[in-house]
Amino acid sequence: MALQNKDLLGLRSISKDEIEEILDNAEIMKHILLKNNKKTPHLQGKSIVTLFYENSTRTRLSFELASKYMGASAANVSATSSSVAKGESLIDTARTIQAMGTDVIIIRHPMAGAPSLIAKNIDASVINAGDGMNEHPTQALLDMFTIREKLGTFDGIKVAIIGDILHSRVARSNIWGLTKLGAELKIAGPPTLLPVELDKTGAKVFYSAKDAIRDADVVMGLRIQKERQQKGLLPSLREYSQLFGIDEEKLSYANNDAIIMHPGPVNRGVELTSNIRDCNVSAIDEQVTNGVAVRMAILYLITRKGENKNVVY
Ligand code: CP
Repeated sequence: MALQNKDLLGLRSISKDEIEEILDNAEIMKHILLKNNKKTPHLQGKSIVTLFYENSTRTRLSFELASKYMGASAANVSATSSSVAKGESLIDTARTIQAMGTDVIIIRHPMAGAPSLIAKNIDASVINAGDGMNEHPTQALLDMFTIREKLGTFDGIKVAIIGDILHSRVARSNIWGLTKLGAELKIAGPPTLLPVELDKTGAKVFYSAKDAIRDADVVMGLRIQKERQQKGLLPSLREYSQLFGIDEEKLSYANNDAIIMHPGPVNRGVELTSNIRDCNVSAIDEQVTNGVAVRMAILYLITRKGENKNVVY
């Protein structure tokens, strides 16, 4: 089975089967990634462009490496050095990129809905690499891949997500995806950083980090998004880290074999202590490795459009 739509815009709009298809293909891609020779011809003849209107290390580089490992032509357009800075519209920019023969455009944009707007106006596939406070589907897919790899199942596992949920597209995509796969979501953060109606998603909401972490199998910290904070939502980073920063004491409430996750970049000493970031149950570096494998799988499946074919290893 390939993906049903030409685009990957979010996990709210794709099925459990499609998510599992991506995770299964990512397993095979990880074998390829860990080999000394990372070259495969799965995207030979394809052209992939990253169009980023916000900063990124992990997402942009992993898409570029995934494209190159699979034989595609890969290029990047940065908003600051392109004709976007001269006033070209988002749709005109996407049409210009498509007119050069591009098969897939990967976009990050501060406005929620920007990838969807582009997808409706071009024939090329569009992948959402993070849109405002809406979704970051490829991050959640790599998070789910890491959880499945470490714990072997989603059935009945408890995932605690701690921090700035209000501004977090990673949290939203994880909530949509993980609940579809059968995990139990336990969310905690300062009341000012929890969106209203969160409990309608099926997630349980807590105002204390310890209550959310209690009996959790996965403890995920989220970055405090200083660039999206309005005044008054957060008294101080010091108080935040005392109440919601993950340290040894708070982690002691989790299951004994719980793993630590964070989408990155980590503000050490704010969302996680440095010791927790680097401890032996931290899966943060593996999340980054898995990000390349998952993005290889997504690029492979999205360029198959209707072909009934799993990746061949
Ligand atoms: N997690 C994440 O999206 O990281 P980057 O901003 O570095 O891409």
